[in-house]
Amino acid sequence: MPASALPSVHLALDLGAVLLLALGLKGLSKVRTARSANGLAAVAIAVAVAGLLLEQGVAGWPWMLLGLLAGGGLGALVAYRVPMTSMPEVVALFNGCGGMASLLVALGAAALPAGLDLLGQLSVLASVLVGGVTFSGSLVAMAKLQEWLATPPWMLRPQRHAVNIGLVLVALAAGAALPLGLLTPAPALVVITVASLLLGIGLTLPIGGADMPVVISLLNSYSGVAAAAAGFVVGSQLLVVAGAMVGAAGLILTQVMCTGMNRSLTSVLFGGALGAAAAPVGEGGSGEDPGYSRITSCSAEECALALEAAERVVFVPGYGLAVAQAQHSLKELARLLESAGIQVAYGIHPVAGRMPGHMNVLLAEADVPYEQLIEMETINPDFPRTDVVIVLGANDVVNPQAKNDPSSPLYGMPVLEVDQARSVFVVKRSLGAGYSGVRNGLFELPQTSMVFGDAKAVLQQLTAELRSLGVGKVAVAAG
Ligand code: TAP
Repeated sequence: MPASALPSVHLALDLGAVLLLALGLKGLSKVRTARSANGLAAVAIAVAVAGLLLEQGVAGWPWMLLGLLAGGGLGALVAYRVPMTSMPEVVALFNGCGGMASLLVALGAAALPAGLDLLGQLSVLASVLVGGVTFSGSLVAMAKLQEWLATPPWMLRPQRHAVNIGLVLVALAAGAALPLGLLTPAPALVVITVASLLLGIGLTLPIGGADMPVVISLLNSYSGVAAAAAGFVVGSQLLVVAGAMVGAAGLILTQVMCTGMNRSLTSVLFGGALGAAAAPVGEGGSGEDPGYSRITSCSAEECALALEAAERVVFVPGYGLAVAQAQHSLKELARLLESAGIQVAYGIHPVAGRMPGHMNVLLAEADVPYEQLIEMETINPDFPRTDVVIVLGANDVVNPQAKNDPSSPLYGMPVLEVDQARSVFVVKRSLGAGYSGVRNGLFELPQTSMVFGDAKAVLQQLTAELRSLGVGKVAVAAG
């Protein structure tokens, strides 16, 4: 192939990669196609890398292949080793890597002797500024989720907003000084980089751990914006389009999460840890008994009897199911019920767990059929004709006070209306609160029985009890 044809081949491969990425992103919107869509997006990136390798020629390969092996190896290692419950931290780390990559690409391009035109210089400014904020903000978010970092009290003073605005102004002034010839590129870029890194810390450190997943989703959007700006710097259509898609998708997801948690984005971003405390408190349950008076509890044996008599059962998974890693035990119980002709479905709340799609991923891991995962809006009208609901390590997402108690911090948050079902069994270890730290009126309703214990242990007991009752035997024998 003549060398002159290589740039157009590169361009064609970039275009192909953009199309594959767009298809991948579309596929991610449906549980059934999400896994293959993820693969498609990975192929898109491979096509883009191949195009770059082709254009750069063999001389550029050693560095690129080294980067590919180091980054790919590290990414694969992290993805394999990290438990599902720590996925938000991993997403934060990956966002940070994206921000840093955009920042470095922009700095590298700015350091080239040929110099940059005005658009190039503006793009460098945007890429370094947003990339720096994304990088340091993501590391702070990850450290806070891991509980390695707490908010220092001085970070909650209102003056912090003035400091953050000051940092933005310093970065913009250094950016403006560049095309005006008031500063040479090196000092201007150093000032913008340092200001953006400090800004990322200043914006993220005051935010409470409770709001961190929303912040991570927003930082994900920022990483897309930084990548799109870096695309303008290096003239890559692929980076521009892919970055814009990530930026927009991250913003939409942030909005969906805010709605699902009944929080406004401004209260998340500017409320700081105080805002998080004023709305509710906690991180995964206080373990304290918030003074319930009319609690009915029962054994797994009694719960199994209700399941045996049911025609339709809905499981509602929550964060506790992920903690207990009980997804496979749940699938086994569901299979047993189905073998006895009992209709089974799963009610999925958009913010059940600790990250978007947490329950979908968890249940997909146990090969629960996608069509049985029913979204909140679809399943809510079906609860009145449901015989038994088993709430598994979920708390806030089934709290009826979100609908009927204006004094509750959860008031206004859409919830799964399990209180409409004929019988509700809540499986959890104690009467402790959920993520929001508030009491749950569901526990005191006459149709509710608490089954205290670890979700996995209780599910295994239920399966054993049902087997001892002979449930599923006829079907097994017939099979
Ligand atoms: P939570 O309200 O956090 O309740 C989880 C419950 O699981 C706890 O009450 C806990 O009670 C129980 N639990 C913990 N370990 C368990 C185990 N091994 N076995 C059985 N139960 C166990 O969870 P949810 O209903 O899924 O609600 C999610 C919350 O997280 C919402 O408030 C949401 O706004 C928030 N949030 C979600 C996201 C996303 S995107 N998903 C992001 C940020 C925040 P015990 O201690 O008594 O067992």
